Amino acid sequence: MSGSRPEYDQYSDAYKTLSTDPIRERFAPGSEFFHKRKWLLLAEYMERTGIRPQKSAWLDVGCGQGDLLRYGVDHFGELAGCDLSTGMLEACKGLKVTPQTEPTGLPFPDKSFDLITAVCVYHHVEAKDRPALTAEIGRVLRPGGTACIIEHNPFNPLTQFLVSRIPVDADAHLLTPGTAHRLMNKAGLTKSETLYFLYFPESLYQSAQKIESWLRRVPAGGQYAAFAKKH
Ligand SMILES: C[S@@+](CC[C@H](N)C(=O)[O-])C[C@H]1O[C@@H](n2cnc3c(N)ncnc32)[C@H](O)[C@@H]1O
Repeated sequence: MSGSRPEYDQYSDAYKTLSTDPIRERFAPGSEFFHKRKWLLLAEYMERTGIRPQKSAWLDVGCGQGDLLRYGVDHFGELAGCDLSTGMLEACKGLKVTPQTEPTGLPFPDKSFDLITAVCVYHHVEAKDRPALTAEIGRVLRPGGTACIIEHNPFNPLTQFLVSRIPVDADAHLLTPGTAHRLMNKAGLTKSETLYFLYFPESLYQSAQKIESWLRRVPAGGQYAAFAKKH
């Protein structure tokens, strides 16, 4: 946080513009492709592991402007978002979202959700706050539930390059999948798997979908999703 204001309150008005970069635009114009890929990855994971969204409650921590949550509206029994930045939440019209008053506290009772995601949030969370935020995820997750941290992959040089250029990532400290799993493990969550994605630009994705799926265990994609379960 900068001063007492959540950092993202200063970006919220121009968030889409400030997340844009000419090289990123060549990979995929705008941000829809990136949200859609995450939704498809989550949907594939849920189907493969037997999670039934209609019977599940999903919380997206650091939901920002609600872009990923919107994909779940017609699929989940219940869905909610929370974020430190009230400025970002203003764009979440029609979604059930709650502002967080502190970076390490989630405004929900124990065992409220079956799926909790945090997408491109942790690289903005100070390292000292990450264990407490993850413990909160563990607290509000139901037994049998799934946590998923999606992050930029620091092993991918193009990702590193883009992060260094994008204004909203000025304070970013990327974390490896190993760090994400260690945080979840300390919060009582057991590693399920790590999937890597964003190998191909939008223009090639349709034809290269199969190859991208074969590469999902290779730690080289632009982003990764670290899944863990609460037993
Ligand atoms: C890069 S944006 C990602 C927003 C959204 N998850 C998405 O993928 O479009 C990062 C978001 O994380 C939020 N954030 C940062 N630290 C947070 C924390 N400790 N708890 C909850 N949200 C946080 C910011 O306010 C911002 O909305």
